[in-house]
This record gives sequence, C-alpha cells and structure tokens, in this order.
Amino acid sequence: MLNKAIILQNLQAASFNKPVHVHVVDSLDSTNCFLKDLPASGAIEVCCAEMQTQGRGRFGRYWHSPFGENIYCSTRVHFDCDLSQLSGLSLVVSMAVLAMLEQAGVGDDVRIKWPNDVLWHDKKLCGNLIEVMVSSDVVIGIGLNVNSMVNEQALIDKPWCSLYEITGHHFDRNTLIAQLIIKLDQHLNQFMTHGFASFISQWQEIDYLHGQLITVSQPSGNLCGKANGVNEAGQLILIDETGLVHYLSSGETSLSLMSPHLS
Ligand code: BTN
Repeated sequence: MLNKAIILQNLQAASFNKPVHVHVVDSLDSTNCFLKDLPASGAIEVCCAEMQTQGRGRFGRYWHSPFGENIYCSTRVHFDCDLSQLSGLSLVVSMAVLAMLEQAGVGDDVRIKWPNDVLWHDKKLCGNLIEVMVSSDVVIGIGLNVNSMVNEQALIDKPWCSLYEITGHHFDRNTLIAQLIIKLDQHLNQFMTHGFASFISQWQEIDYLHGQLITVSQPSGNLCGKANGVNEAGQLILIDETGLVHYLSSGETSLSLMSPHLS
C-alpha cells in the first residue's frame, strides 16, 4: 500500500530536506486535477493515488489506473521563466524517471521516445502529462507501470509493460516514489538553471528514435522523415525526404516502414 510516512522516511534517509507535502489518496479522478485545485504553497506538492477513476494521458486519452498496482503521481512546480522555454520539460521528466529506474537497477534497455514515452523493448513503461496553469505553475503527472501483470492487454491500445514484467518481482512503490521526487527535483533544478541544452549529450544515449524513419502525427497532418536527435530547446529534428529539416515542438511519434528515399 502507499504510505505517506514511509515516503517521507525514505526522503529523510536520502537527506532530502526540502519542504514537501505528500498527499496520498485511495481514489481520485486524476492526481493532476487534485494538484491543479490545491492552493499555492512554498513546498513541493506531490499527490499519489492508489487508483484514478479518470486517469488522463496525452491528447485526452485515458490512462489505465487500477487500484494498488502502479504509480500515479503528480507534482506541481512554479517556473519563473517565459513558458515558451518549457519545451524540453517532458523529455527532462522522462529522464528523471529513467534516473530513478537506474537507481532501482532497472534502467537497462530502457529508452525514451520523444517527447515523453519511457519504453522497454518497444513497450510503454511510463508516460507523463504536463499541464500549465494560468499562475505559471506547471503540473507534472507521471504514470509508471510497476506491479501490473500484462494480461490486461485488452484494456490498452498499445503494447505496454511493467517493472514486474521486466524483472519478475514486485516493487515497493513508496521507495520508488521517494526516489522519483528526488530525481525530479534534481532534474528540474538543472533544467531551470541550465536549460535543456545541458541534457543533450545524455539524451543522445537514450534516444529511442535516433536515426529511425518515423511518422509524426500533428493536428495539421502527418510528417515523415528521419529522426536526427533534438536541438537545444528539446525540439525533435526531423529530416524529410526532400532533405528539409523540421524542428518540432509537439506531436506523436511512431516508427514507420516507409519511403525508400530516406533509408
Ligand atoms: C501519456 O503518456 O499519455 C501520459 C500519461 C500520464 C498519466 C499520469 S498518471 C498520473 C497523472 N494523472 C493523470 O490523470 N495523468 C497523469
């Protein structure tokens, strides 16, 4: 079970001394919504739920959130910068998740698919949803499949996996959440101080799409081309079959088996 006292003990044991309010709830519509409605405070606000009744993914999708199995966790941070500088944030959040997984000994073969999917062997392990509020506060929601067994495939439209599937054993979510809070704090501080540029070399090592032929779906239509890493703002660099270079800030990416011109 999720336990606020154990999460706080883990933070203390790791000498994390910043003020943190941890809200642990049995059932919620969505941990992101909970934090959006919470009055501002000087502390790091974190909300974790055993289950979500309206867990949300990107593009208004549903996020499967069964009771007691996985991590559904959100945090709220204030950015004192122009919000246009926030591109790259979802990449940094996924990198913080990966750093937490490495610390837990499960980082091997985990890659990040721009802009936010954490994948293990082509299957989705974790996603994040970032919502900007009028106050310039940003709510960051993370869904990490921890102890779910993959026989529930029918409920989810894309291949997914969990830490249980990867390792064959169950994880204590309280320990993982404490580590996640610490890694997120470190990564967000680096992002606010030095920008996404300071993550680029690390990104190159975990970039699932690098050099691949891909399709990017955007509201304006699909773009196909070869993925060529990201720039200093965290935008995806895509080279289309005419050689034109596109810098993309949003969209959904998938590997494609297309165009001999690009291969
Ligand atoms: C995605 O990959 O589409 C993003 C998934 C984000 C899911 C998390 S679970 C915690 C938080 N609350 C939500 O309703 N969504 C995010």
